[in-house]
Amino acid sequence: MKEQLSKQLSKHLPLNKQQIENLLEAPPSSELGDYAFPCFSLSRELKKSPVEIAQELAKKIQTDKFFEKVEQKGPYINIFLNRTEIVKQTLKKIQFQKEKYGFSNDGKNKKIVIDMSSPNIAKPFGIGHLRSTIIGNSIANICKFQGYKPIKINYLGDWGTPFGKIIAGYLEFGNPKKLSAEPIKHLYEIYVKTSKNEKFEELGREWFKKLELGDKEAVALWKKFKDFSIKDFNKIYSLLNVQFDAVLGESYYNDKMEKTIRELKSKNLLEESQGAFVVNLEKYNLGVALIKKSDGATLYATRDITAAIDRYKKYKFEKMFYEVGAEQKYHFKQLFKILELLGYKWAKNCVHIDHGLYLDKDGKKFATRKGKTIFMEDILEETKELAKQEIEKREKVSKIELEKRSLVVARAAIIYGDLKNYRSNDSVFDIQHFLSFEGNTGPYLLYSYARARSILRKSKSSRKNYQIDKIEDLEKNLIMQLAQFPEIVSQAYKNLSPNLIANYSFQLAQSFNEFYHAFPVLNSEQESFRLELVSSFSQVLKNALNLLGIQTIENM
Ligand code: ARG
Repeated sequence: MKEQLSKQLSKHLPLNKQQIENLLEAPPSSELGDYAFPCFSLSRELKKSPVEIAQELAKKIQTDKFFEKVEQKGPYINIFLNRTEIVKQTLKKIQFQKEKYGFSNDGKNKKIVIDMSSPNIAKPFGIGHLRSTIIGNSIANICKFQGYKPIKINYLGDWGTPFGKIIAGYLEFGNPKKLSAEPIKHLYEIYVKTSKNEKFEELGREWFKKLELGDKEAVALWKKFKDFSIKDFNKIYSLLNVQFDAVLGESYYNDKMEKTIRELKSKNLLEESQGAFVVNLEKYNLGVALIKKSDGATLYATRDITAAIDRYKKYKFEKMFYEVGAEQKYHFKQLFKILELLGYKWAKNCVHIDHGLYLDKDGKKFATRKGKTIFMEDILEETKELAKQEIEKREKVSKIELEKRSLVVARAAIIYGDLKNYRSNDSVFDIQHFLSFEGNTGPYLLYSYARARSILRKSKSSRKNYQIDKIEDLEKNLIMQLAQFPEIVSQAYKNLSPNLIANYSFQLAQSFNEFYHAFPVLNSEQESFRLELVSSFSQVLKNALNLLGIQTIENM
């Protein structure tokens, strides 16, 4: 709204749209109008007092039919918007732009790399990886809607000493049949066994050395673990409907790290410390970053430095986002500092987008259930089953339809359950609640959408050339919210906060339901106008949910 208003005002004021938008204020009470424009800043340029300017401009603006009333109060111009005009313009814009409504070309197709999901192979997909996948995906959608070109990279944890240990463990406890049937579970079993036995420490180091040097047996096993793990992870990604532009793990940088180490050395950043090499960041209160161990092994940080440099070469990104849990805050501070010390100007465009923990209903860290590890693919499948039960309670549908709907409902439940919270906060992982069809949940939003679509299906009249005789407060309220959507998307991008869009969707759905309960649509005197409103609501809610990564369904 503010944007539209600024555009309109720029026809009358000696300022551009953006300048006006920055100056517009919300008046202290609604009797003073919808917006207030302060005239102080024009005083110097126009060589008049702010009060005089307000008087003159108010007169001029008054002639615009976009405004109901324009009043001068001291140095302020109070603006009352013309409801009918705004309603018409807003609905027209939504109907014209459809799935593009809310899109902005601010990003001018500049690239944004998003490092996201990034689970570790041969290990269960963690709940933190789930958050990273969901939040990263939504942020990528939002970037795209702001005109950027997002590049989603799944930076698999597929390198490092743990893999030596798994190889050694597999050689002792492995079972090829189990591996191909349930790879992650089997590898996890092996991992648990090896961690109980000291001898695997040494064996693990030996096997990792072999792996680094390209030993045939080691590489073949590692590759097998990796391929199987990816197959398992893909089940999760397909349930969530998330795709990547590149799946490029840490291992990709194995033969590229020497160059990084040489570069650190040549820029005098590397220090020797007890046979190991470190970058000393104490000056910046960031401790020391281990780059190479005394046995020659490289580390997570070494790979991240190498990957960042490589990605900049490849993409010349405008920004690079890392969607990773808050527990790695320190690691990213070190990483960005080292890149800066290496002289890379783009280091300042790297951002760690953190997320908090998922907690149990009783407030403990969500990790175990009765002491057992829970596997993400099981949780997601379970959610789908529960969704099926919910749907069947309500309606008898064909098997195919049930499959389709339960997948979309489960997805909405999980994704919205996460994104409704500000990402940095800890929140509670509660599937039962996420799946509820009432309250602040994904299924409730899908339900509101489906309800709107069903009204539209039932209507026979054409919506063309509707007349507006009267606008009820609940209608006005809904339309004002629809008009806000582009601004909400832009805020979500600036704050890297998908929850702004999630919360907006919920409020929008509530306003719609209030309106719908209070006023008939079909066969009412205002049918055409109300249908236009229902249609616009469904379009905007769909656009908003899509940005979160949630698809809509026509029936529920
Ligand atoms: N694989 C890591 C983990 O599970 C996350 C990687 C995040 N991305 C990065 N560039 N460091 O902890």
